[in-house]
Amino acid sequence: MKRESRGLPKPWWYMAGIGCVLLTTALAASRGVAERGRPVYQRYCAPCHGSSGTGSGYNAPALQELKITPRNHTQKEVMQRLTDEELYRAIAYGRVDLRKRAVMPAWGRTLTPEQIWDLIAYIRTLAR
Ligand code: HEC
Repeated sequence: MKRESRGLPKPWWYMAGIGCVLLTTALAASRGVAERGRPVYQRYCAPCHGSSGTGSGYNAPALQELKITPRNHTQKEVMQRLTDEELYRAIAYGRVDLRKRAVMPAWGRTLTPEQIWDLIAYIRTLAR
């Protein structure tokens, strides 16, 4: 009885694990296309976040007067802590901090979900 409860042989688990990783990667990759996100980012996001994502666009000095800094998308350690879902929420619904006022606009009415996923794919390339 004890022997049977040991379950499936090890190689099977390795294969299942690799399969899961491949599937997750494929799903994540199919969500957004960085090349499509680039022009959208340059048009809508660069004014604050800067054309290379460092948070120094031409609107940044005006925001600094309110003691607000647009997120620097090239900071790897910071960006790695944010999941794609968190990025999606921030972009689609904005960041409304009542102490700081609404500073990161909500783009959910301007951009389609596809465009937002493309933006996320593009933002991920900035932090490399
Ligand atoms: C009016 C200036 C402005 C524009 C335009 C703007 N942002 Fe932001 N964004 C900000 C500011 C300011 C913050 C920091 C908010 C905070 O600290 O709460 C921010 C934060 C973020 C964050 C980080 C949210 C988090 O949870 O840390 C993401 C992602 C982001 N912006 C993406 C974008 C994208 C994509 C666009 C273009 C569609 C865009 N932003 C356009 C000002 C802007």
